[in-house]
Amino acid sequence: MLLTAAFAACLAAPGAFAAEGEKPYKVNADGKVNWPTFSGYRRYHSECHVCHGPGGLGSSFAPNLLESIKRLSYEQYLEVVVNGRVNVDAATQNVMPGFATNLNVMCFVDDIYTYLVARADGAIGMDRPKHTGKPPEAAENEKACFGDL
Ligand code: HEC
Repeated sequence: MLLTAAFAACLAAPGAFAAEGEKPYKVNADGKVNWPTFSGYRRYHSECHVCHGPGGLGSSFAPNLLESIKRLSYEQYLEVVVNGRVNVDAATQNVMPGFATNLNVMCFVDDIYTYLVARADGAIGMDRPKHTGKPPEAAENEKACFGDL
């Protein structure tokens, strides 16, 4: 029950990215990105890049997520990350693990999405981006999601 509540807090704004033309990331003229984009970079590279490759470019284990993110809706992305997906045929067995119980992913699932959209749009490169600072709300949301409040 506790976990469910935590996820509800993290995912308080379903469809937040649905608005047509609205980009979740922000890149300033000096190249600094908003906090969610930077946070997504960090979380992606701690939890996803082992399979999906640095910068989302894919590897022999898992598909290029920059292609995927253009095709998938936010809801479809969320569905795969939460529940995982197993795709087996005669030649290969591709397993995307479900991250439903991993707070290091679930508390930042929107940030990871934001990062991937910025990468897919070519707004940022492969390197660790500089950011404009961590807003107090981000710190509060994080604490609430991890159940520390
Ligand atoms: C253990 C390796 C592994 C890890 C770690 C992993 N993935 Fe995956 N992921 C896969 C594989 C393999 C597939 C392809 C599954 C298939 O063929 O259906 C996949 C598929 C996906 C898809 C669907 C792509 C599409 O085109 O439909 C998304 C989105 C995704 N992963 C996101 C993530 C995110 C975000 C993370 C980090 C939180 C992550 N993955 C971590 C192996 C992994």
